[in-house]
Amino acid sequence: MKKKLRVVLLLLLAAFFLIQFRKQPEIKSSGTIAESDFLKTDHQLDVETVQFLKQACYDCHSKNADLPWYAKVEPVGGWIRSHIKHGRGNLNFSDWANLPLQKRIDQLDFVIHEIETDEMPLKSYLWMHPEARLEKEKEERVLADLKNLLKKYRSGD
Ligand code: HEC
Repeated sequence: MKKKLRVVLLLLLAAFFLIQFRKQPEIKSSGTIAESDFLKTDHQLDVETVQFLKQACYDCHSKNADLPWYAKVEPVGGWIRSHIKHGRGNLNFSDWANLPLQKRIDQLDFVIHEIETDEMPLKSYLWMHPEARLEKEKEERVLADLKNLLKKYRSGD
C-alpha cells in the first residue's frame, strides 16, 4: 500500500512538472492607464474610489492587470487567466470611453450592484488580496460616489 502511494505521489509530481511546460495564451497587461479608461473619462471620482477600483477590480477588469508570481505556476495560472479573460469580457474599465452612454449606465449600475451584494471582488481574490476588502464605512462612501456618477450619467450630464 505504501509503495502504491509513493508511485501515485511521484506521478502527481511528474504531472505537475509537465504542465508547467504547456504553451499558455499570454495575458497582456499594461503599466499605464489608457486614455479611454473609466478613471480618465469625463468625470471626477474621489481618490478613495479610484484607489479601491484599482486595487479591487483592475486586475480582472482592465488592461492593467498586476499579475502575481504564482500566475506563472500551473494549474493556478490557468485558473487566474480564465478569471481575467472572463472578467475583461464582462467589463473592461480600460475601454470605457468607447462605450455608448446607455452601456456605461448599465455597466456602472452592475458595478454598484456587485459591490453592494459582495459578489465582487471574487472571494478567491480576497484570500490573496486582503487590501481589496473595504471596511463598511469606506464601502458606503465609495458606493455613494459611484451612485452620484450614475445619477449624472442618467441625467445626461
Ligand atoms: C479575480 C478576478 C476578479 C476581480 C478582482 C473582480 N472581478 Fe468582477 N468578474 C470576474 C469574472 C470572472 C466575472 C464574470 C463571471 C461572473 O459573473 O462571475 C466578473 C463579472 C463582473 C461583472 C459583470 C456581472 C454580470 O453578471 O454581468 C461586474 C459588474 C463586475 N465583475 C464588477 C467587479 C467589480 C466592481 C470589482 C471590484 C470591486 C470586480 N468585479 C473584481 C472577475 C473578477
